[in-house]
Amino acid sequence: MNITEPGDPTRTRSWARLGQLAVPMRARELREIFAEEPARGPAWTLDAAGLHVDFSKQRVTREVMDALLELASEQGVLERRDAMFAGAHINATEDRAVLHTALRLPLGASLEVDGIDIAAEVHDVLGRMANFSDRVRQGEWTGATGERILNVINIGIGGSDLGPAMAYEALRYYSDRQMTFKFVSNVDPTDITEALLGLDPAQTLFIVASKTFGTQETLTNAKAARQWIVDALGEGAVGKHFVAVSTNAERVAGFGIDTDNMFGFWDWVGGRYSMESAIGLSTMIAIGPQRFRELLDGFHAVDQHFRYADPAVNVPLRMGLIAVWNRDFLDIPTNAVLPYAQFLSRLPAYLQQLTMESNGKSVRCDGARVDYNTGAIYWGEPGTNGQHSFYQLLHQGTEVVACDFMLFAQALEPVYDMQDMLAANALAQAAVLAFGRTAEEVRADGTPEDLVPHKVMPGNRPSTFILAARLEPHALGALIALYEHSVFVQGAVWGIDSFDQWGVELGKAMANSILPDLQDADRPLDRDSSTDALIRAYQALHAQA
Ligand code: F6P
Repeated sequence: MNITEPGDPTRTRSWARLGQLAVPMRARELREIFAEEPARGPAWTLDAAGLHVDFSKQRVTREVMDALLELASEQGVLERRDAMFAGAHINATEDRAVLHTALRLPLGASLEVDGIDIAAEVHDVLGRMANFSDRVRQGEWTGATGERILNVINIGIGGSDLGPAMAYEALRYYSDRQMTFKFVSNVDPTDITEALLGLDPAQTLFIVASKTFGTQETLTNAKAARQWIVDALGEGAVGKHFVAVSTNAERVAGFGIDTDNMFGFWDWVGGRYSMESAIGLSTMIAIGPQRFRELLDGFHAVDQHFRYADPAVNVPLRMGLIAVWNRDFLDIPTNAVLPYAQFLSRLPAYLQQLTMESNGKSVRCDGARVDYNTGAIYWGEPGTNGQHSFYQLLHQGTEVVACDFMLFAQALEPVYDMQDMLAANALAQAAVLAFGRTAEEVRADGTPEDLVPHKVMPGNRPSTFILAARLEPHALGALIALYEHSVFVQGAVWGIDSFDQWGVELGKAMANSILPDLQDADRPLDRDSSTDALIRAYQALHAQA
């Protein structure tokens, strides 16, 4: 399928129109916008797959939204969306299809790409994963000594870690509580060492997760884990204590893991879009195949919505377009992710990779350098903890931060009325950010005059509020798919390739070239004076150990 690469968005009529609309909007307050549109709350709330998404506190008007939809149309966003779902090679710089949506197709669906029914392949792997997960969960797959596996350690990094780690935390309530799940990613030796502390090798299974099976951190940690097993149980135990998840069978075999114990996926699944592929094996072992299917169904429900819902009510489309508006027209550089759910503590880290590795680009698909802003910086912490840390800046700092609130109405583990307290805090924060507090209102409280300016809350800080019934696998899948497609929309508008990641390669190559220099103080150095001096300082300190 041939698809036209989107060109320079700034040359479209709608971009110019948005530029005009932004001028008065920068001076307009959310207070005024709400006063002019009394039913704005419900009017700007859309529903998708059980997610109730309130965009009313974003600084957008109907005119802005119409112009943003026009921008999507001029940039061919929906054609590109359809091309993605159909398997076109929209990841142009790597000449790859982008088909994470195929990972969550229901059983019985088919999707033929290049003459292969990839939906059947997906379900084949899901079936093998389910079989393996059940065997581990039921104690049929044992360690080499016949003991039940009670500890599962996922070794991976980036997309091969953040998704599984986030999903395990998010769905921990549904997990087998007799089992322990850990996630080792960093090449810092403390990561693996601390993870292994106190564990019994006879009860420990390692999942080595790496799309390429060539990632330094993962292979080094896997080597250390292998040695730990061999030291305790002997070489013959490796087969019972290691499985792999990868697209590269040859390298898996080369590492010494039986490819019968390998769960594959495909080059059309990007690392940061892979948590529902075999990369999610640890998630499936934790929550079981049935709940894993519910997770996939949540993703799929939002996929269907994104694909078929009218643009006027299309939630990921609106979310992505508002992100473009905030970034390029309101000059908002960062976006805070504020889940009011402790189980979503790893969501900000997960979304950092999804958003920033996808849209942190400054060259368009057509090779031209952009002269507009692309991906925002994503960061965050669960509420209410963040309130007692960085919210001061969100409320009164000189930089405006766009915020995404997430809240569930039902507690998974109810205690007193704590869920209501959590909800009250989330709602309060979003309202205060939007509407602030004027000097008159502060004075009306009897505040001494010298404190009035300190207590004024500027407000007019935009946020989106995502509400759902309960943190269940389906809701998590829906939430992640919402962000995936929002990221897609942003990238399509900006005309960039959201699915490559060339920017991370040079650092990896340079680390490989620095390593031998670090390890041999006699080697002459010829880099920049800072790096060379730091190498010598490191060597001197290291030698004192
Ligand atoms: O360094 C970036 C990256 O390539 C990510 O895109 C990816 O998720 C991660 O490294 C891990 O890669 P792999 O799964 O191949 O080990």
